[in-house]
Amino acid sequence: MKKAIYAGSFDPITLGHLDIIERAARMFDTLVVAVLENPNKCSLFTVEERKEHLELVLCNMKNVEVASFRGLLADFSKEIGATVAIRGLRNTMDFAVEYQMYLINRKLGKDMETVFLAADEEHLSLSSTNVKEVAVFGGNIDFMVPQEIKPFIIEKYKK
Ligand code: PNS
Repeated sequence: MKKAIYAGSFDPITLGHLDIIERAARMFDTLVVAVLENPNKCSLFTVEERKEHLELVLCNMKNVEVASFRGLLADFSKEIGATVAIRGLRNTMDFAVEYQMYLINRKLGKDMETVFLAADEEHLSLSSTNVKEVAVFGGNIDFMVPQEIKPFIIEKYKK
């Protein structure tokens, strides 16, 4: 049984994340999508809210589980028995950052491998940051996020 982990902030999940999740889920027996609990980062949604969004969007994907974690990805991966970390790449800037993270994760988790999935061309401009930048001004985010979570984003900015 090959278990992989796709960790991230998912604040909020984008269509780019969803594409990576769908593709990774086809490659592994189990895929754990894990929200990082990062007390140092100011987020739009709480960890619980982000987990709920993921559960809603991914509920029909039988081999996908949703989790959250604190601390190091390498430690959490070991704890849940995941040996492969999935990362999406949109461009060379992503690559520079992700390659460093891969090297560190390899040092921290001896049996840990990273699989990079190149983003679909439709999603090259997507990021959670861009979603928030558009949503705060009431712009159209239909092409950025799964439809199920759009109301939660709109609601957040109404407050
Ligand atoms: O959605 P993001 O911000 O691209 O996700 C980054 C994430 C959560 C995968 C990364 O920051 C992470 O794994 N953080 C946990 C701390 C860790 O293990 N760091 C080691 C690599 S520097």
